[in-house]
Amino acid sequence: MKIALLGMGSVGRGVLEMIAAKDLGITVTGIADSKSGVIDPDGINPARILKAKKKTGLCGNKKISAADVVSKADYDALVEVTPTNATTGEPGLGYIRQALKRKKHVVTSNKGPIALAYKELKTLAAKNGVELRHEATVGGAIPIFHTLEHGLAGNEILAIFGVLNGTCNYILTRMSDEGLTYEQALLEARELGYAEADPTYDVQGIDAAIKLVILANTIWGNGVSLKDVNRTGIDLLTPDALRLAEEEDCTIRLIAEAIPKKGLLRVSPRIIEKNHPLVVDGTLNAITLETDMAKEITLIGKGAGSLETASAIIGDLLFIRDRYVKRP
Ligand SMILES: NC(=O)c1ccc[n+]([C@@H]2O[C@H](COP(=O)([O-])OP(=O)(O)OC[C@H]3O[C@@H](n4cnc5c(N)ncnc54)[C@H](OP(=O)(O)O)[C@@H]3O)[C@@H](O)[C@H]2O)c1
Repeated sequence: MKIALLGMGSVGRGVLEMIAAKDLGITVTGIADSKSGVIDPDGINPARILKAKKKTGLCGNKKISAADVVSKADYDALVEVTPTNATTGEPGLGYIRQALKRKKHVVTSNKGPIALAYKELKTLAAKNGVELRHEATVGGAIPIFHTLEHGLAGNEILAIFGVLNGTCNYILTRMSDEGLTYEQALLEARELGYAEADPTYDVQGIDAAIKLVILANTIWGNGVSLKDVNRTGIDLLTPDALRLAEEEDCTIRLIAEAIPKKGLLRVSPRIIEKNHPLVVDGTLNAITLETDMAKEITLIGKGAGSLETASAIIGDLLFIRDRYVKRP
């Protein structure tokens, strides 16, 4: 199976490392970052490109752009792992459209295009007989969409509850366990690289709301968008609120919930019993599905990380390989 890769940040490098380390039957024929690209129909050595990127900051030739890789390289699937822009979906949205129009499968970890244009992109993929897969967009390593599609096939999904943002979960865990203030816990999260310099997206619940939109649209196809999510962040929580919850053997977590029959789509800090399966520590994510036959299923795992996210992408690629593409 041949792939082209757009993006050589944390996730893109994780994908290349795994392709270099494991016999997955995947050949890379095109790679691009923001400033350079490389195309080789005979296959690119992933280890060599990883080394070059580390040394020079470039993966290839400045005369070859990401758009060139999408439109000219010979590949079965495009792996699109460029930065998320939740307002425009770009640059990923344009690259994904272009690849689908070329009848190429697409695997992405980029939440922007999937939250903004899932229906359009799914329709385009179906029209062209190819797959659009986005396991890595929600819950990092947690195989939530594979579970829904295969393990829970035939179930009606009644509701979803999730801890979908590792940064918020880390901050809340530290406030609860150590009695830190929000500001102290945020500073610690920043020092450990769990929080961005501008943490707005995470702490105001926007990132969790985007993931909730992706879950809802994938499961129920209900065409919801970010503005439909009733959202409250964790930035105004006080240590007192956590202390009061503690007195009832409870804690506080940022919970994303979708219950279509009640018209509920919400992200908010919730008081929750300490022994509830969604009470996970640190940067972990957790997702509970309520279904008619299987009843409650909770999946817990790493919500981010280079190899963790690569795991979700490789899972999507191998699904496509086994279903559509013969091994060389
Ligand atoms: N990191 C995680 O744990 C994680 C988990 C789940 C989902 N995601 C999502 O996965 C995506 C990638 O995340 P990341 O952490 O790997 O991001 P990152 O470290 O910021 O890397 C982004 C990569 O995209 C490249 N890029 C930027 N603009 C581009 C353009 N116009 N054309 C081609 N390439 C371009 C960058 O090029 P340069 O190298 O030249 O700057 C960089 O290599 C994001 O959408 C993120 O939200 C990440």
